[in-house]
Amino acid sequence: MSLLDDLKWRYAAKSMNGAEVPQEKLDYILEAARLAPSSSGLQPYKVFVISNKELLEKIKNVAWNQSQVTDCSHLLVFAAWDGYTDARVSAVFNYTMDQRGLPHETMDDYKQNIMSLYEPLGKEWQADHASKQSYISFAMAIAAAAEQKVDATPMEGFVPAEVDKLLELEGSGYKSTLLLTLGYRDADNDWLVNMKKVRTPKEDFITEIK
Ligand SMILES: Cc1cc2nc3c(=O)[nH]c(=O)nc-3n(C[C@H](O)[C@H](O)[C@H](O)COP(=O)(O)O)c2cc1C
Repeated sequence: MSLLDDLKWRYAAKSMNGAEVPQEKLDYILEAARLAPSSSGLQPYKVFVISNKELLEKIKNVAWNQSQVTDCSHLLVFAAWDGYTDARVSAVFNYTMDQRGLPHETMDDYKQNIMSLYEPLGKEWQADHASKQSYISFAMAIAAAAEQKVDATPMEGFVPAEVDKLLELEGSGYKSTLLLTLGYRDADNDWLVNMKKVRTPKEDFITEIK
């Protein structure tokens, strides 16, 4: 199967059957999320992997009661930085330099540049920018799940502040941005399963400038 076949197979399952996703498939999906590119390589986000039934029930209550949240095998919660600070950026760059066997100072000029660009834009802009980075990782996880024939429902339909409370994120520097349920479609009960996949026609989507 090609990536395009996998993307045609996937859909945002509205009903899942509760079957468990094997650990190796879960690991594969998470690794794809981890390998996503991000602006300046900062990866200003992380992923919570939740299978605790009580917690899933509580999250469903603040996610428009969407049944996938409790009928999935695992729920991924993506959470992004609430802002860029010198300490956070330095920690990532120092780690990168350590991994590459280079002095920490190698990235100093670049770090000063991005901090002087981001700081005046304020915390709200910074949190939004970090959140956008988490969407790239999220998309990688969706594609990897499709490749593994694992159903995945991308979800923005939840109250982030309430999920933050449930995950005790307050004061951690992270805010929840996205949910992704992983599991298997309940083909007998999902109204969406046999619906045609509809996308913007190619001629409207693509503008060629030669
Ligand atoms: C960022 C994002 C947020 C979404 N939020 C929800 C959601 O809360 N609940 C849901 O059932 N589907 C949600 N969807 C699924 C979309 O409605 C779905 O991907 C879109 O209609 C295209 O259909 P397909 O994914 O089945 O091909 C979301 C998708 C994305 C990318």
